[in-house]
Amino acid sequence: MSDAQPILEINNVSKYFGSVIALQDVSMFVRPGEVTCLLGDNGAGKSTLIKTLAGVHKPSEGSYRFEGNEVEFESPRQALDMGIATVYQDLAMIPLMSIWRNFFLGSEPTIGFGPFKRFDVDSAKRVTREEMAKMGIDIRDPDQPVGTLSGGERQSVAIARAVYFGAKVLILDEPTAALGVKQAGVVLKYILQAKRRGIGVIFITHNPHHAYPVGDHFVILRRGQVYGDYTKAEIPLEQLVQMMAGGADLQALSHELESASGDEGEDDLASAAREFRQEAGNE
Ligand SMILES: Nc1ncnc2c1ncn2[C@@H]1O[C@H](COP(=O)(O)OP(=O)(O)O)[C@@H](O)[C@H]1O
Ligand SMILES: [Mg+2]
Repeated sequence: MSDAQPILEINNVSKYFGSVIALQDVSMFVRPGEVTCLLGDNGAGKSTLIKTLAGVHKPSEGSYRFEGNEVEFESPRQALDMGIATVYQDLAMIPLMSIWRNFFLGSEPTIGFGPFKRFDVDSAKRVTREEMAKMGIDIRDPDQPVGTLSGGERQSVAIARAVYFGAKVLILDEPTAALGVKQAGVVLKYILQAKRRGIGVIFITHNPHHAYPVGDHFVILRRGQVYGDYTKAEIPLEQLVQMMAGGADLQALSHELESASGDEGEDDLASAAREFRQEAGNE
C-alpha cells in the first residue's frame, strides 16, 4: 500500500434507520490508485456504507472528508459532481439502447448552441469506442444494444463511463456477484485498469477470492461494525476467507450434511454437502 494521502475518509460514522443500527462507529479511508475492498456477509451494512459515501444517505453521526475537506452531501448528484461515482448492481442501463447511447445517458454531448443545439452522434460513438479501447475492450459496433453484451462487458461499460466522466472515486457494489468465473475475471481486469488510472476504487464483494487478487486494502464489516482492516501484506488469503462469516457457517453446514448422509454412497445429501463445501471454499 502506498503512503499517498487518502482521497476519501470517514471517521466514526454511524447510521440509524429508526431503531435499526445499520452502521456503528465505522472509520475507513480510500487512497487514490488503490483498490479498497469492502467485505461482509449479507446484512453487514455494505450497501448502507456505500450509499452514505455516495450521498444517498446522510450519516447519523461521524465525519466525512473528501480530498481533505469536510463534506456533507445533499444528494447523490452532488457526490457525483465531485467525482464520486457509483456503479450499482442493476447498472441503470437500458438493454435495448445502443452501447454509445447508454454510455452518454444523462450527459449527451451536443454541438451548436441555442435552437441549433443537437446531439453529436458521431463524436458520441467515437468517444465510446475510444474509452472502451482504453479499458482494453474492443467494441466492434457502438450501435449494438447493451442487452446483447455479457454481464461482465456491461459492467465494463459502466466502469468506462464513470472513468470518462471524471470519477476520482469509483464505488462498485458487488459487480462480480451475478457473474461466472470467466466474466468475473473480466470485471476484475477493469478494476485494475481503473486503479492504474489513479482512481480510488471501492470494490464491494462477499467473495474473498475475487477481492484478494485485485485488492490493496481490505475492510471487513460485520453487523454494522468494522471487524477488520488490513493491507494485503498484513493478511494472507486463507485468513481473509476465515474471517468471512459465511465461509465458516458453510463449512459447518457441510459437515452436518455429510454426517447426516451417513455412508450410503452418493445420495442427494452427500452431493449437497459437497456443493456446500465447494461454496465454502470458493467464497
Ligand atoms: N432503508 C432502510 N431502512 C431500515 N433498515 C435498513 C435500511 N437499509 C438497510 N437497513 C438495515 O441495515 C442493515 C444493513 O443492511 P445493508 O447495508 O443492506 O447490508 P449489506 O449490503 O451488507 O447486505 C440490515 O439489517 C438492513 O435490514
Ligand atoms: Mg448490499
